[in-house]
Amino acid sequence: MDKKQLSGIIAAGTGTAAAGIGTYLYLKKKGAETPKTYGLICPMEEEMAPFLEAMAVETTIRLSGLTFYEGSLDGARIILVQCGVGKVNAALCTEALCTRFTVDCIINIGVAGTTHQGVKQGDIVIATEAVQHDMDVTCRGFAPGEVPDMGGMTYVQASTPLVAAAREAAGDCLPDGVSVFTGRVASGDQFISDRAVAEGIDTKFGAYAVEMEGAAIAQVAWVNHVPFAIIRAITDNADEDAPALSYPEFLPTAIENSFAVVRRMLRLDQREPLMEA
Ligand code: ADE
Repeated sequence: MDKKQLSGIIAAGTGTAAAGIGTYLYLKKKGAETPKTYGLICPMEEEMAPFLEAMAVETTIRLSGLTFYEGSLDGARIILVQCGVGKVNAALCTEALCTRFTVDCIINIGVAGTTHQGVKQGDIVIATEAVQHDMDVTCRGFAPGEVPDMGGMTYVQASTPLVAAAREAAGDCLPDGVSVFTGRVASGDQFISDRAVAEGIDTKFGAYAVEMEGAAIAQVAWVNHVPFAIIRAITDNADEDAPALSYPEFLPTAIENSFAVVRRMLRLDQREPLMEA
């Protein structure tokens, strides 16, 4: 057993949340060495708020201008952090999470816009893969969205077991009328508020959702070999009404729906370990 595993067991054994110990014992019975630790990244304070309220915080760590909350939620070990808006904030936060903490996987939770056929406000989009829609070196022969010199990296694949776990969770915790989609998520450093621009992103990348962090989190998780998922709830149609009307109107519902999915996912994971080691 290495130092990392030992510290995981000590954390589980001495934590205040009895459910955390329960998870440890359960996983021990299943033959797993340590309980999994989930890194949960939310871009905005409003998106993080329900998690922070529900979790039992054991340690708070300040690093790179960010606050990392270590503790448990419904028995699952979690490290919760608000990364801030945009790809640079998302990337530096993910790098810190991957290299300065011990996480087994990362879940990015937040809201998004959409123009994708059939996807509406309140719905959930679980990313199968993520792309940077504003990465454009096509003039030098790279594909739209391709990050140069990264071995052809355009679409970064989310963890299949995590996607399946999110789908299962979403299947039994959302209000009637809320649909769940799995598909591509496109990220860029713009809040999209122009229907034509949004449709262009959808046409080019087949994007079910547009947001501002997911693909950066995906790339950093990928290079650090950490499985990740992106779970986004739709607030708006990325059109001219988005900033002042639909986004603020649907923000509370979207936050509620994405929180419900992730909480259910963590609970299900204790019933049955759902991801690869
Ligand atoms: N997050 C929520 N709505 C968005 C939009 N229209 N563009 C970018 N990010 C978003």
